[in-house]
Amino acid sequence: MSTPAHVAIIMDGNGRWAKARGLPRLAGHKAGVEALRRTVRSASDLGIRWLTVYAFSSENWSRPASEVSDLLGLLKIFIRRDLAELHRSGVRVRVIGERENLKPDIRVLLEEAESLTIGNTALNLVIAFNYGSRDEIVRAVRRIAQQAADGQLDPESIALDTVTGALDTAGIPDPDLVIRTSGEVRLSNFLLWQAAYSELVFLPCFWPDFTHELFADALRQFASRERRFGGLAEIGALSSSA
Ligand code: IPE
Ligand code: IPE
Ligand code: MG
Repeated sequence: MSTPAHVAIIMDGNGRWAKARGLPRLAGHKAGVEALRRTVRSASDLGIRWLTVYAFSSENWSRPASEVSDLLGLLKIFIRRDLAELHRSGVRVRVIGERENLKPDIRVLLEEAESLTIGNTALNLVIAFNYGSRDEIVRAVRRIAQQAADGQLDPESIALDTVTGALDTAGIPDPDLVIRTSGEVRLSNFLLWQAAYSELVFLPCFWPDFTHELFADALRQFASRERRFGGLAEIGALSSSA
């Protein structure tokens, strides 16, 4: 079975999971963190090299202040509690998203997670935090334009790699598979550039109910897909050249 090298997950449905149980949304987010812990272990067990998780979008600031503060608090707790364990398991942590405008305490934690685990190679965990594709692309364009304005870059030489290398995901392979839980069928500003040729799997379950078995099922769906990247399928190409 062909295993995707990079799986990206839109961890959605915490609020509805909680509502269905008559619990506050925070309980859903806490259960969501548990699901994330399990999923990181599953990803390693399933032979995945890169796992990207959408933890907080640039649009999530529009939620009530109390929920935003709960989500930021949970990220801090996750990093404080789990960093040592992730490091022991050989996980390298990288964070994508806008960072300049985050509070210093969060920035320091994110930097610590990245620098502590920089030498690890077992699994790459990419946390998309304060992330939005459009914001990422705007920041990349600004960087490229600045280089051109400074005379370091000829606009004519701007190529695919120039853009890819100016994104937060520079050096990270494109996701092969994007999974979204909660039944919503949209990308919500996640990896719009990078997912150009990703396979998409939408699952009806809420994120806290995501399990190793559902993860394995999604990988089976991925394995059954035929990726063509705009070209011809291998079998078709062989028979037409015969
Ligand atoms: C995903 O769950 C977590 C974040 C977006 C941070 P939601 O909070 O979006 O849960 P629903 O979609 O309202 O159920
Ligand atoms: C996407 O979920 C963001 C994360 C999972 C972090 P949302 O719940 O914010 O997306 P919409 O609002 O349903 O599109
Ligand atoms: Mg949601």
